[in-house]
Amino acid sequence: MKVIHISAECYPIAKVGGLADVVGALPKYQNDLGAHSSVIMPFYNNKFTQSHEFSSLYQAKVKLGNNDVNFNILKIDDSVLEFDVFFVHIENLLYTKDVYSDNDTNRFLAFQIAALDWILTLKVIPDFIHCHDHHTGLIPFMTQESFKYQTLNKIPVITTIHNAQYQGWMAYDNIYKIPRFNIEKVGLLMWNGMINPLAAAIKCAWRVTTVSPSYMEELKLKANGLESLLAHESSKAIGILNGIDSKVWNPETDSYIIKNYKKSTVESGKKANKKWLCSQFNLDESKPLFAFIGRLVGEKGAELLPYALDYALRSKDISVIVLGSGSKDIENQLFGLMPKHNGNYNAFIGYDEKLSHIIYAGADFLLMPSRVEPCGLNQMYALRYGTVPIVRRIGGLKDTVIDIGDNGFGICHNDISVQDMVLSIHRGKEFYYNTESFKANRKHIMGIDHSWNVSAKAYIDLYKSIN
Ligand code: ADP
Ligand code: GLC
Repeated sequence: MKVIHISAECYPIAKVGGLADVVGALPKYQNDLGAHSSVIMPFYNNKFTQSHEFSSLYQAKVKLGNNDVNFNILKIDDSVLEFDVFFVHIENLLYTKDVYSDNDTNRFLAFQIAALDWILTLKVIPDFIHCHDHHTGLIPFMTQESFKYQTLNKIPVITTIHNAQYQGWMAYDNIYKIPRFNIEKVGLLMWNGMINPLAAAIKCAWRVTTVSPSYMEELKLKANGLESLLAHESSKAIGILNGIDSKVWNPETDSYIIKNYKKSTVESGKKANKKWLCSQFNLDESKPLFAFIGRLVGEKGAELLPYALDYALRSKDISVIVLGSGSKDIENQLFGLMPKHNGNYNAFIGYDEKLSHIIYAGADFLLMPSRVEPCGLNQMYALRYGTVPIVRRIGGLKDTVIDIGDNGFGICHNDISVQDMVLSIHRGKEFYYNTESFKANRKHIMGIDHSWNVSAKAYIDLYKSIN
């Protein structure tokens, strides 16, 4: 079975969030199950591309409206990954420092058209094309309508929605940039007066998945304008819970963390990581350490953090570390708390992969007060590292964390409010000082299997169900 994943991100090549982690792991696990999965993504001007050698497989030109776009398909020379990755290189368009920019309409249009142009040239065409998020949302339409005479319409296309908040909206006058199609089919591209790539994907893909079962149910009620469409297409839609790459996220072998550990050495291992964190960030290691890692945006409930943390820190009996970036307002507020809670609180504003691993390893609790959480990987990483997740019951968090009050292992709250967050932090403190059961819980959560084994198979079964 030959599968090509098409995505804007893929770990460790280019990562903004969980999309990269998923696309960097799922193909690996699918290959372990006997598939031949690969990835095609843009060639960015970043650390990864600068530090590896690539060779060119194919060069061609596509049209983006009236403009010719020259592109190259590249492949990495050394086999650093456990699956093939192909890159679309477009010098003055896709080859940017950041994954996303202001010109994303043109960038991802050109990316999608070039990717399909190349797929057409393959000797063995894929059995399935698996698209991820709105950046690849026009692929199902284009295979069905623009490239149908070249038989691409025979290849089943699956679209996975990692986040329905972002839909890739484009003004109608971009229509001429989409490779020629029967204009009577224009309705497939449109939603509420705009070209909407995510809506087009939901209409045209052979199957639509989201990254957790609960998020799929939530989307049918609230999907940033697409709820009725998802409800309408529900017969081809399914929620499959993400997994984690337990080869990368493994405290026993993780080369980023200060001291490796396994279940039997969790106490000393976490202690060493916590000690390092507390010394680097001027925190008190004798107190329970609460952490937040993530994008500082409304979806993550991040605007509540400064208020909830300010309140929770008043009793001076906890330590808190925040790692994140996003809204400047939230960044400033989080930064502003530092002098007031010096010695108990610190915030690293920015993106730091290595530090995130040390925090998963060293923290006692991980806060995820998300407003929307399609799946969430952080809580699963936390569990693997013996860190108790404190989550709002929503989307994938609801599907992966059970409250200690319900014979579970984490702390959950229902509302998105400062009070609920503060109360949950308080419950965390109580749990922490219930030392024996807290320690037993650490061992228990490290053993919960959230690896991709199960879900990679669920995707393979889904492909096979298409005929
Ligand atoms: P989302 O994709 O919505 O941001 P996920 O929970 O799926 O949320 O995945 C977030 C990923 O990004 C995790 O791997 C997390 O560790 C990582 N991450 C988020 N913010 C940062 C940051 N500031 N520094 C390092 N890693 C981060
Ligand atoms: C999105 C979602 C997140 C999910 C990730 C990977 O970024 O916001 O919840 O875990 O995609 O699917």
